[in-house]
Amino acid sequence: MQEPASRVLSTLKIDGMPETYPPSRGSRISANEYRRRRRQLLRALGETGVALLAAAPERVRNGHTHYPYRQASDFSYLTGFPEPEALLVLVPGRREGEVVLFCRPRDPERERWEGPRAGVEGAVERYGADQAYPIGALDEEMPKLLRDRDQLHYPFAHDADLDARVMGWVRAVRAQIRAGVRAPRALVNLDDLLHEMRLFKSKAEAKLMRDAARVSARAHRQVMRFCQPGRWEYELEAEFARACAASGSRFQAYPAIVGGGANACVLHYTANDQRLRDGDLVLIDAGGELEGYAADITRTYPVNGRFNPPQKALYELVLSAQEAAIAKIAPGNRWIEPHEAAVKTLTRGLVELGLLAGGRKAVPKLIREEAYKPYFMHRTGHWLGMDVHDVGDYKREGDWRRFEPGMVLTVEPGLYLAPEREDVPPGFRGIGIRIEDDVLVTATGPEILTRHAPKTVAEIEGWMGSAGENGD
Ligand code: GLY
Ligand code: MN
Ligand code: MN
Repeated sequence: MQEPASRVLSTLKIDGMPETYPPSRGSRISANEYRRRRRQLLRALGETGVALLAAAPERVRNGHTHYPYRQASDFSYLTGFPEPEALLVLVPGRREGEVVLFCRPRDPERERWEGPRAGVEGAVERYGADQAYPIGALDEEMPKLLRDRDQLHYPFAHDADLDARVMGWVRAVRAQIRAGVRAPRALVNLDDLLHEMRLFKSKAEAKLMRDAARVSARAHRQVMRFCQPGRWEYELEAEFARACAASGSRFQAYPAIVGGGANACVLHYTANDQRLRDGDLVLIDAGGELEGYAADITRTYPVNGRFNPPQKALYELVLSAQEAAIAKIAPGNRWIEPHEAAVKTLTRGLVELGLLAGGRKAVPKLIREEAYKPYFMHRTGHWLGMDVHDVGDYKREGDWRRFEPGMVLTVEPGLYLAPEREDVPPGFRGIGIRIEDDVLVTATGPEILTRHAPKTVAEIEGWMGSAGENGD
Protein backbone atom coordinates (compact mmCIF):
# COMPACT_ATOMS: atom_id res chain seq x y z
CA MET A 1 0.00 0.00 0.00
CA GLN A 2 1.14 3.46 -0.78
CA GLU A 3 1.95 5.80 2.04
CA PRO A 4 -0.26 8.91 2.06
CA ALA A 5 1.59 11.87 0.58
CA SER A 6 1.05 14.09 3.61
CA ARG A 7 2.91 11.65 5.89
CA VAL A 8 5.71 11.32 3.39
CA LEU A 9 6.11 15.07 3.10
CA SER A 10 6.36 15.58 6.82
CA THR A 11 9.31 13.17 6.99
CA LEU A 12 11.10 15.17 4.32
CA LYS A 13 11.04 18.57 6.01
CA ILE A 14 14.44 20.12 6.52
CA ASP A 15 15.01 20.86 10.15
CA GLY A 16 16.82 24.03 11.06
CA MET A 17 18.24 24.64 7.59
CA PRO A 18 18.44 28.36 6.78
CA GLU A 19 16.85 29.40 3.49
CA THR A 20 20.22 30.36 2.10
CA TYR A 21 23.46 28.84 3.20
CA PRO A 22 25.79 30.05 4.55
CA PRO A 23 23.93 32.87 6.32
CA SER A 24 27.05 35.00 5.90
CA ARG A 25 30.14 34.60 3.79
CA GLY A 26 33.34 33.15 5.15
CA SER A 27 35.01 29.88 5.87
CA ARG A 28 33.39 27.42 8.23
CA ILE A 29 36.71 25.71 8.99
CA SER A 30 38.30 27.80 11.72
CA ALA A 31 41.85 29.14 11.70
CA ASN A 32 42.44 26.86 14.67
CA GLU A 33 41.43 23.79 12.74
CA TYR A 34 43.80 24.64 9.89
CA ARG A 35 46.56 25.11 12.50
CA ARG A 36 45.71 21.74 14.09
CA ARG A 37 45.94 20.00 10.70
CA ARG A 38 49.36 21.54 9.97
CA ARG A 39 50.61 20.65 13.44
CA GLN A 40 49.46 17.06 13.03
CA LEU A 41 51.32 16.80 9.73
CA LEU A 42 54.41 18.55 11.10
CA ARG A 43 54.57 15.99 13.92
CA ALA A 44 54.17 13.12 11.48
CA LEU A 45 57.05 14.40 9.33
CA GLY A 46 59.54 13.89 12.16
CA GLU A 47 62.46 16.10 13.11
CA THR A 48 64.39 15.60 9.88
CA GLY A 49 61.52 15.75 7.41
CA VAL A 50 60.22 18.60 5.29
CA ALA A 51 57.05 18.82 3.18
CA LEU A 52 56.20 20.78 0.04
CA LEU A 53 52.76 21.31 -1.39
CA ALA A 54 51.76 23.50 -4.34
CA ALA A 55 48.52 25.38 -5.08
CA ALA A 56 46.53 24.30 -8.15
CA PRO A 57 47.66 26.05 -11.33
CA GLU A 58 45.29 28.28 -13.26
CA ARG A 59 44.20 26.64 -16.48
CA VAL A 60 43.76 28.60 -19.69
CA ARG A 61 40.67 27.71 -21.69
CA ASN A 62 41.59 29.84 -24.69
CA GLY A 63 43.08 33.28 -25.28
CA HIS A 64 42.63 35.26 -22.09
CA THR A 65 39.84 33.05 -20.74
CA HIS A 66 40.50 30.68 -17.88
CA TYR A 67 38.55 27.75 -16.47
CA PRO A 68 36.95 28.62 -13.13
CA TYR A 69 39.69 28.37 -10.52
CA ARG A 70 39.44 25.77 -7.79
CA GLN A 71 42.18 25.40 -5.23
CA ALA A 72 43.77 21.92 -4.94
CA SER A 73 42.01 20.05 -2.14
CA ASP A 74 45.25 19.07 -0.36
CA PHE A 75 46.50 22.65 -0.39
CA SER A 76 43.15 23.99 0.72
CA TYR A 77 42.97 21.39 3.51
CA LEU A 78 46.20 22.67 5.06
CA THR A 79 45.92 26.39 4.38
CA GLY A 80 42.45 27.55 3.31
CA PHE A 81 44.46 29.77 0.96
CA PRO A 82 42.37 30.34 -2.19
CA GLU A 83 44.90 31.74 -4.69
CA PRO A 84 47.00 30.12 -7.42
CA GLU A 85 50.82 30.50 -7.60
CA ALA A 86 51.50 29.50 -4.03
CA LEU A 87 53.66 26.90 -2.31
CA LEU A 88 53.46 25.66 1.27
CA VAL A 89 56.57 24.40 3.02
CA LEU A 90 56.36 22.69 6.41
CA VAL A 91 59.67 22.54 8.24
CA PRO A 92 59.41 20.83 11.65
CA GLY A 93 61.39 22.50 14.43
CA ARG A 94 62.67 25.40 12.30
CA ARG A 95 63.46 28.29 14.61
CA GLU A 96 62.29 31.10 12.29
CA GLY A 97 58.97 29.31 11.79
CA GLU A 98 57.69 25.91 10.73
CA VAL A 99 54.99 27.06 8.30
CA VAL A 100 56.29 28.95 5.28
CA LEU A 101 54.02 30.16 2.49
CA PHE A 102 55.20 31.47 -0.86
CA CYS A 103 52.52 33.49 -2.67
CA ARG A 104 51.83 36.32 -5.10
CA PRO A 105 52.83 39.68 -3.64
CA ARG A 106 50.34 42.56 -3.56
CA ASP A 107 50.27 44.40 -6.90
CA PRO A 108 47.76 47.28 -7.23
CA GLU A 109 47.95 47.27 -11.03
CA ARG A 110 47.19 43.52 -11.36
CA GLU A 111 44.67 43.60 -8.54
CA ARG A 112 42.68 46.25 -10.45
CA TRP A 113 42.22 43.67 -13.25
CA GLU A 114 42.03 40.43 -11.29
CA GLY A 115 40.77 41.28 -7.82
CA PRO A 116 42.53 41.44 -4.45
CA ARG A 117 45.40 39.22 -3.37
CA ALA A 118 46.31 38.28 0.18
CA GLY A 119 49.98 39.11 -0.40
CA VAL A 120 52.72 38.03 1.98
CA GLU A 121 51.20 40.14 4.78
CA GLY A 122 47.84 38.43 4.39
CA ALA A 123 49.48 34.99 4.24
CA VAL A 124 50.80 35.57 7.76
CA GLU A 125 47.94 37.58 9.24
CA ARG A 126 44.95 35.80 7.70
CA TYR A 127 46.21 32.33 6.82
CA GLY A 128 48.46 31.56 9.75
CA ALA A 129 51.83 31.24 8.03
CA ASP A 130 54.81 31.83 10.33
CA GLN A 131 56.69 33.38 7.43
CA ALA A 132 55.75 34.30 3.87
CA TYR A 133 57.81 35.13 0.78
CA PRO A 134 56.84 36.35 -2.67
CA ILE A 135 56.54 33.42 -5.07
CA GLY A 136 59.41 34.93 -7.13
CA ALA A 137 61.81 34.15 -4.25
CA LEU A 138 61.38 30.35 -4.54
CA ASP A 139 64.70 29.55 -6.21
CA GLU A 140 66.58 31.64 -3.68
CA GLU A 141 64.79 30.47 -0.53
CA MET A 142 63.95 26.82 -1.19
CA PRO A 143 67.51 25.45 -1.04
CA LYS A 144 67.80 27.08 2.40
CA LEU A 145 64.60 25.40 3.60
CA LEU A 146 65.67 21.97 2.33
CA ARG A 147 69.09 22.18 3.96
CA ASP A 148 69.84 19.53 6.62
CA ARG A 149 66.56 17.73 6.01
CA ASP A 150 66.70 13.99 5.29
CA GLN A 151 63.22 13.15 3.96
CA LEU A 152 61.50 15.32 1.42
CA HIS A 153 57.75 14.68 1.47
CA TYR A 154 56.17 15.86 -1.73
CA PRO A 155 53.39 14.60 -4.07
CA PHE A 156 55.82 13.78 -6.86
CA ALA A 157 55.03 12.72 -10.45
CA HIS A 158 51.88 14.82 -10.80
CA ASP A 159 53.38 17.93 -12.40
CA ALA A 160 56.54 17.48 -14.46
CA ASP A 161 57.51 21.17 -14.33
CA LEU A 162 57.25 21.28 -10.56
CA ASP A 163 59.14 17.97 -10.26
CA ALA A 164 61.99 19.49 -12.29
CA ARG A 165 62.03 22.60 -10.13
CA VAL A 166 62.07 20.63 -6.89
CA MET A 167 64.97 18.51 -8.16
CA GLY A 168 66.77 21.73 -9.05
CA TRP A 169 66.44 22.89 -5.42
CA VAL A 170 67.73 19.53 -4.17
CA ARG A 171 70.73 19.86 -6.52
CA ALA A 172 71.37 23.35 -5.18
CA VAL A 173 71.51 21.94 -1.63
CA ARG A 174 73.85 19.15 -2.73
CA ALA A 175 76.18 21.74 -4.21
CA GLN A 176 76.80 22.91 -0.63
CA ILE A 177 77.71 19.50 0.78
CA ARG A 178 81.39 20.42 1.14
CA ALA A 179 80.32 23.30 3.37
CA GLY A 180 78.92 20.66 5.75
CA VAL A 181 75.30 20.90 4.59
CA ARG A 182 73.12 17.75 4.40
CA ALA A 183 70.86 17.28 1.37
CA PRO A 184 67.59 15.29 1.35
CA ARG A 185 68.32 11.60 0.77
CA ALA A 186 64.78 10.22 0.48
CA LEU A 187 61.80 11.34 -1.50
CA VAL A 188 58.50 10.34 0.15
CA ASN A 189 55.05 10.66 -1.34
CA LEU A 190 53.25 13.22 0.83
CA ASP A 191 49.90 11.68 -0.18
CA ASP A 192 50.30 8.85 2.32
CA LEU A 193 50.30 11.05 5.41
CA LEU A 194 47.97 13.75 4.14
CA HIS A 195 45.30 11.54 2.64
CA GLU A 196 45.06 9.43 5.75
CA MET A 197 44.30 12.65 7.64
CA ARG A 198 41.69 13.73 5.08
CA LEU A 199 39.91 10.38 5.31
CA PHE A 200 38.76 11.15 8.86
CA LYS A 201 36.37 14.06 8.98
CA SER A 202 36.48 16.39 11.99
CA LYS A 203 33.29 17.63 13.61
CA ALA A 204 33.40 20.83 11.55
CA GLU A 205 33.96 18.85 8.33
CA ALA A 206 31.12 16.46 9.14
CA LYS A 207 28.87 19.47 9.68
CA LEU A 208 29.87 21.00 6.34
CA MET A 209 29.24 17.69 4.59
CA ARG A 210 25.87 17.38 6.29
CA ASP A 211 25.01 20.86 5.00
CA ALA A 212 26.34 20.11 1.48
CA ALA A 213 24.17 16.99 1.49
CA ARG A 214 21.09 18.88 2.66
CA VAL A 215 21.51 21.64 0.10
CA SER A 216 21.90 19.01 -2.64
CA ALA A 217 18.98 16.92 -1.39
CA ARG A 218 16.80 20.00 -1.43
CA ALA A 219 17.93 20.76 -5.01
CA HIS A 220 17.01 17.19 -6.00
CA ARG A 221 13.56 17.71 -4.52
CA GLN A 222 13.13 20.91 -6.50
CA VAL A 223 14.27 19.24 -9.73
CA MET A 224 11.81 16.36 -9.16
CA ARG A 225 8.98 18.86 -9.25
CA PHE A 226 10.48 20.78 -12.16
CA CYS A 227 10.75 17.58 -14.21
CA GLN A 228 8.09 16.90 -16.84
CA PRO A 229 7.84 15.24 -20.24
CA GLY A 230 9.29 17.42 -22.99
CA ARG A 231 11.92 19.14 -20.86
CA TRP A 232 15.51 18.80 -21.97
CA GLU A 233 17.96 16.89 -19.79
CA TYR A 234 20.15 20.01 -19.56
CA GLU A 235 17.22 22.00 -18.19
CA LEU A 236 17.19 19.67 -15.17
CA GLU A 237 20.96 20.07 -14.90
CA ALA A 238 20.58 23.87 -14.91
CA GLU A 239 17.69 23.77 -12.43
CA PHE A 240 19.77 21.64 -10.07
CA ALA A 241 22.70 24.07 -10.22
CA ARG A 242 20.37 27.03 -9.75
CA ALA A 243 18.73 25.43 -6.72
CA CYS A 244 22.13 24.66 -5.17
CA ALA A 245 23.35 28.22 -5.78
CA ALA A 246 20.19 29.62 -4.18
CA SER A 247 21.21 27.74 -1.02
CA GLY A 248 24.80 28.98 -1.09
CA SER A 249 26.44 26.17 -3.07
CA ARG A 250 27.64 28.01 -6.15
CA PHE A 251 29.82 25.28 -7.64
CA GLN A 252 28.94 21.72 -8.47
CA ALA A 253 31.06 18.93 -7.01
CA TYR A 254 31.25 17.27 -10.47
CA PRO A 255 29.49 17.56 -13.83
CA ALA A 256 25.91 16.35 -13.43
CA ILE A 257 24.64 13.24 -15.19
CA VAL A 258 21.04 13.65 -16.36
CA GLY A 259 20.02 10.63 -18.42
CA GLY A 260 16.45 10.09 -19.60
CA GLY A 261 15.37 6.58 -20.67
CA ALA A 262 18.21 4.45 -22.03
CA ASN A 263 20.73 7.29 -21.54
CA ALA A 264 20.73 6.20 -17.89
CA CYS A 265 22.52 3.01 -19.01
CA VAL A 266 25.57 5.07 -20.07
CA LEU A 267 27.46 5.26 -16.80
CA HIS A 268 29.36 8.49 -17.49
CA TYR A 269 26.66 10.13 -19.61
CA THR A 270 27.17 13.89 -19.46
CA ALA A 271 25.90 14.97 -22.89
CA ASN A 272 22.56 15.78 -21.15
CA ASP A 273 21.16 16.98 -24.47
CA GLN A 274 18.03 14.91 -25.10
CA ARG A 275 14.36 15.54 -24.37
CA LEU A 276 12.71 13.64 -21.53
CA ARG A 277 9.90 11.36 -22.63
CA ASP A 278 6.62 10.48 -21.00
CA GLY A 279 6.83 6.94 -19.64
CA ASP A 280 10.63 6.93 -19.22
CA LEU A 281 12.67 7.16 -16.05
CA VAL A 282 15.31 9.84 -15.62
CA LEU A 283 18.53 9.26 -13.68
CA ILE A 284 20.09 12.36 -12.16
CA ASP A 285 23.47 12.10 -10.48
CA ALA A 286 24.31 15.55 -9.15
CA GLY A 287 25.77 17.15 -6.06
CA GLY A 288 26.75 20.61 -4.97
CA GLU A 289 30.02 21.64 -3.37
CA LEU A 290 29.80 23.66 -0.19
CA GLU A 291 32.93 25.47 0.99
CA GLY A 292 35.10 22.86 -0.69
CA TYR A 293 33.14 19.76 0.42
CA ALA A 294 31.16 17.56 -1.95
CA ALA A 295 27.78 15.91 -1.97
CA ASP A 296 27.17 13.08 -4.44
CA ILE A 297 23.54 12.02 -4.87
CA THR A 298 21.75 9.96 -7.49
CA ARG A 299 18.02 9.68 -7.76
CA THR A 300 16.10 7.88 -10.51
CA TYR A 301 12.42 8.64 -10.99
CA PRO A 302 9.64 8.65 -13.59
CA VAL A 303 9.57 11.67 -15.88
CA ASN A 304 5.76 11.79 -15.46
CA GLY A 305 5.80 11.10 -11.71
CA ARG A 306 4.42 7.50 -11.79
CA PHE A 307 6.43 4.25 -12.02
CA ASN A 308 5.13 1.56 -14.37
CA PRO A 309 5.28 -2.08 -13.11
CA PRO A 310 8.66 -3.15 -14.60
CA GLN A 311 10.23 0.17 -13.56
CA LYS A 312 8.86 -0.26 -10.06
CA ALA A 313 10.06 -3.86 -9.77
CA LEU A 314 13.61 -2.96 -10.79
CA TYR A 315 13.60 0.20 -8.70
CA GLU A 316 12.60 -1.62 -5.56
CA LEU A 317 15.27 -4.21 -6.18
CA VAL A 318 17.99 -1.55 -6.42
CA LEU A 319 16.57 0.15 -3.33
CA SER A 320 16.66 -3.06 -1.31
CA ALA A 321 20.27 -3.62 -2.45
CA GLN A 322 21.12 -0.12 -1.30
CA GLU A 323 19.45 -0.65 2.07
CA ALA A 324 21.29 -3.95 2.53
CA ALA A 325 24.58 -2.18 1.72
CA ILE A 326 23.95 0.69 4.12
CA ALA A 327 23.10 -1.78 6.90
CA LYS A 328 26.69 -3.08 6.66
CA ILE A 329 28.25 0.29 7.45
CA ALA A 330 29.42 0.11 11.04
CA PRO A 331 32.77 0.56 12.77
CA GLY A 332 34.80 -2.64 12.44
CA ASN A 333 33.12 -3.88 9.26
CA ARG A 334 35.28 -4.19 6.14
CA TRP A 335 35.04 -1.78 3.21
CA ILE A 336 33.88 -4.54 0.86
CA GLU A 337 30.91 -5.67 2.99
CA PRO A 338 28.38 -3.13 1.65
CA HIS A 339 29.34 -4.09 -1.91
CA GLU A 340 28.99 -7.79 -1.15
CA ALA A 341 25.56 -7.19 0.40
CA ALA A 342 24.43 -5.21 -2.64
CA VAL A 343 25.67 -7.89 -5.04
CA LYS A 344 23.87 -10.61 -3.10
CA THR A 345 20.56 -8.75 -3.06
CA LEU A 346 20.81 -7.78 -6.73
CA THR A 347 21.72 -11.30 -7.86
CA ARG A 348 18.84 -12.83 -5.92
CA GLY A 349 16.45 -10.25 -7.32
CA LEU A 350 17.66 -10.70 -10.90
CA VAL A 351 16.97 -14.43 -10.53
CA GLU A 352 13.49 -13.75 -9.16
CA LEU A 353 12.72 -11.39 -12.04
CA GLY A 354 13.94 -14.01 -14.53
CA LEU A 355 16.83 -11.83 -15.70
CA LEU A 356 19.37 -14.40 -14.51
CA ALA A 357 18.73 -18.11 -15.04
CA GLY A 358 19.32 -20.96 -12.58
CA GLY A 359 16.86 -20.46 -9.74
CA ARG A 360 17.49 -19.55 -6.10
CA LYS A 361 19.96 -22.35 -5.50
CA ALA A 362 22.23 -21.00 -8.21
CA VAL A 363 22.68 -17.64 -6.46
CA PRO A 364 26.06 -18.38 -4.77
CA LYS A 365 27.46 -19.72 -8.06
CA LEU A 366 26.06 -16.74 -10.00
CA ILE A 367 27.77 -14.41 -7.50
CA ARG A 368 31.08 -16.30 -7.79
CA GLU A 369 30.89 -16.12 -11.57
CA GLU A 370 29.88 -12.43 -11.44
CA ALA A 371 26.81 -13.12 -13.56
CA TYR A 372 25.37 -9.77 -12.35
CA LYS A 373 28.18 -7.82 -14.01
CA PRO A 374 26.45 -7.14 -17.35
CA TYR A 375 23.76 -5.32 -15.33
CA PHE A 376 25.80 -3.95 -12.41
CA MET A 377 29.33 -3.19 -13.53
CA HIS A 378 30.63 -0.71 -10.97
CA ARG A 379 31.50 -0.72 -7.30
CA THR A 380 28.95 0.19 -4.66
CA GLY A 381 30.71 3.34 -3.48
CA HIS A 382 33.79 5.42 -2.79
CA TRP A 383 35.15 7.75 -0.13
CA LEU A 384 33.66 11.25 -0.22
CA GLY A 385 35.07 14.51 1.07
CA MET A 386 36.68 17.54 -0.51
CA ASP A 387 36.89 15.50 -3.72
CA VAL A 388 33.95 13.53 -5.00
CA HIS A 389 36.08 10.41 -5.38
CA ASP A 390 37.95 11.29 -2.26
CA VAL A 391 41.40 10.29 -1.11
CA GLY A 392 42.20 7.50 1.36
CA ASP A 393 43.27 3.89 1.03
CA TYR A 394 40.67 1.17 0.49
CA LYS A 395 43.04 -1.60 1.53
CA ARG A 396 45.61 -1.92 4.27
CA GLU A 397 48.28 -4.60 4.21
CA GLY A 398 46.39 -6.49 1.56
CA ASP A 399 43.01 -6.59 3.33
CA TRP A 400 39.99 -4.33 2.94
CA ARG A 401 40.04 -1.46 5.36
CA ARG A 402 37.67 -1.43 8.31
CA PHE A 403 35.18 1.37 8.87
CA GLU A 404 35.91 3.88 11.61
CA PRO A 405 33.88 6.84 12.86
CA GLY A 406 34.48 9.98 10.80
CA MET A 407 34.77 8.28 7.41
CA VAL A 408 32.28 9.34 4.73
CA LEU A 409 31.39 7.16 1.76
CA THR A 410 28.77 6.86 -0.95
CA VAL A 411 26.47 3.87 -1.37
CA GLU A 412 25.31 3.64 -4.96
CA PRO A 413 24.24 0.30 -6.40
CA GLY A 414 22.51 0.28 -9.76
CA LEU A 415 21.06 -1.83 -12.54
CA TYR A 416 21.56 -0.98 -16.18
CA LEU A 417 19.59 -2.99 -18.75
CA ALA A 418 21.02 -1.79 -22.05
CA PRO A 419 18.41 -1.31 -24.80
CA GLU A 420 20.22 -3.62 -27.23
CA ARG A 421 20.14 -6.66 -24.89
CA GLU A 422 17.85 -9.15 -26.57
CA ASP A 423 18.01 -11.55 -23.60
CA VAL A 424 16.18 -8.95 -21.49
CA PRO A 425 12.34 -8.93 -21.66
CA PRO A 426 11.19 -5.90 -23.70
CA GLY A 427 9.50 -4.18 -20.70
CA PHE A 428 12.87 -4.02 -18.91
CA ARG A 429 15.03 -2.99 -21.86
CA GLY A 430 16.60 0.45 -21.77
CA ILE A 431 16.03 0.96 -18.04
CA GLY A 432 18.94 2.32 -15.99
CA ILE A 433 18.59 2.89 -12.25
CA ARG A 434 21.06 4.04 -9.63
CA ILE A 435 20.31 5.19 -6.10
CA GLU A 436 23.14 6.99 -4.32
CA ASP A 437 23.39 8.35 -0.80
CA ASP A 438 26.24 9.76 1.27
CA VAL A 439 26.88 8.11 4.60
CA LEU A 440 28.92 9.19 7.63
CA VAL A 441 30.27 6.36 9.76
CA THR A 442 29.50 7.02 13.42
CA ALA A 443 30.16 4.99 16.55
CA THR A 444 26.49 4.02 16.59
CA GLY A 445 26.13 3.17 12.89
CA PRO A 446 25.51 4.89 9.57
CA GLU A 447 24.22 8.46 9.37
CA ILE A 448 22.63 8.99 5.96
CA LEU A 449 23.55 12.59 5.20
CA THR A 450 21.40 12.73 2.06
CA ARG A 451 18.22 11.32 3.60
CA HIS A 452 16.19 14.41 2.71
CA ALA A 453 16.02 13.45 -0.97
CA PRO A 454 12.89 11.32 -1.61
CA LYS A 455 13.84 7.72 -2.25
CA THR A 456 11.10 5.13 -1.84
CA VAL A 457 8.49 4.74 -4.58
CA ALA A 458 5.87 6.20 -2.23
CA GLU A 459 8.06 9.17 -1.32
CA ILE A 460 8.89 9.94 -4.95
CA GLU A 461 5.34 9.58 -6.28
CA GLY A 462 4.00 11.50 -3.30
CA TRP A 463 6.50 14.30 -3.75
CA MET A 464 6.13 14.60 -7.52
CA GLY A 465 2.36 14.25 -7.39
CA SER A 466 1.77 16.93 -4.79
CA ALA A 467 3.69 19.83 -6.34
CA GLY A 468 2.99 23.14 -4.74
CA GLU A 469 1.84 21.74 -1.40
CA ASN A 470 5.07 22.52 0.32
CA GLY A 471 6.92 25.00 -1.91
CA ASP A 472 10.25 23.42 -1.01
N1 GLY B 1 29.04 11.21 -9.41
C1 GLY B 1 30.12 10.33 -9.52
C2 GLY B 1 29.90 9.08 -8.77
O1 GLY B 1 28.80 8.81 -8.38
O2 GLY B 1 30.81 8.37 -8.49
MN1 MN C 1 29.45 8.49 -6.33
MN1 MN D 1 27.24 10.18 -8.12
